[in-house]
Amino acid sequence: MSKWKPVRKAVFPVAGLGTRFLPATKVMPKEMLPLVDRPLIQHAFEEAREAGIEEFIFVTGRHKNMLEEHFDFQPELEDTLKSRGKFDMLEAIKSSEISENQLFLTRQTRPLGLGHAIWCAHKLVGDEPFAILLPDDVVLADTPCLKQMVDSYNETGGNLVSVMDVPREQTASYGILDTGKENGNLIEVKGLVEKPKPEDAPSTLSVIGRYILQPEVFTHLSKFETGAGGEIQLTDAMAKLIGSQPFHGYRYEGQRYDCGSRLGFIEANIAYSLKDKEIGDDVRQILQKYGSSQS
Ligand code: G1P
Repeated sequence: MSKWKPVRKAVFPVAGLGTRFLPATKVMPKEMLPLVDRPLIQHAFEEAREAGIEEFIFVTGRHKNMLEEHFDFQPELEDTLKSRGKFDMLEAIKSSEISENQLFLTRQTRPLGLGHAIWCAHKLVGDEPFAILLPDDVVLADTPCLKQMVDSYNETGGNLVSVMDVPREQTASYGILDTGKENGNLIEVKGLVEKPKPEDAPSTLSVIGRYILQPEVFTHLSKFETGAGGEIQLTDAMAKLIGSQPFHGYRYEGQRYDCGSRLGFIEANIAYSLKDKEIGDDVRQILQKYGSSQS
């Protein structure tokens, strides 16, 4: 039997403000912005569920109550849909329900950084490995990104971060790997740096918002050391695990969209709607119309 425990829990840091989408996010959490027909947080939740995750931990904050409401049961709505024979819609809202023994909430009361947000979940995670999904990062893939990672983790154990290549001028937006040996989709991680300047970046391989980590990361997070941007960085705590536990980058198959930016969000909506059985063909026609227009 493997010495590594299976991944059963996932943490979703959702306390962020979403200033890049103001005024849309003045009242509504940015994670509720819809990607075609479901909010970003639901895409992340479904990805985790498809990867076999059993417990969903939201690290929320002020003005984020709508997120837990979204995943609650809505008996009146369900009765209305049933009585009107709208069974497809009923199915759709059922897919956004999380039962009481599966959804756990904690709060990050101050915006001290991603590392701090993850630390806020330490009691709920306990002494077992866990996944992290950043709902801003959406990955369109035949096999959901986290499922690919869990399959790989079940072979190798240790810690895994999903990675992609970025243009060198963008390294200051990501956690960047100092890379070792490559073996298929796995890349040995020798070091990790948060948001280095292009000239200082050890590579152009960057971390995207999917992680599988061992609980020992909390020991490092609990020191509350600040790093890049004066924030408590997850990357810095992860870097301290290197050497004492296996640590790999995982080159996932799929296309990642940065839904924390307006352009990335719009592109994601185009990509996902083109895949939609009902509206995909019409969207293609619309794109052709605008692609050929000059204004
Ligand atoms: C966070 C992480 C960074 C990672 C990125 C992926 O940065 O700190 O290491 O590469 O997510 O999206 P943020 O985008 O929150 O600034």
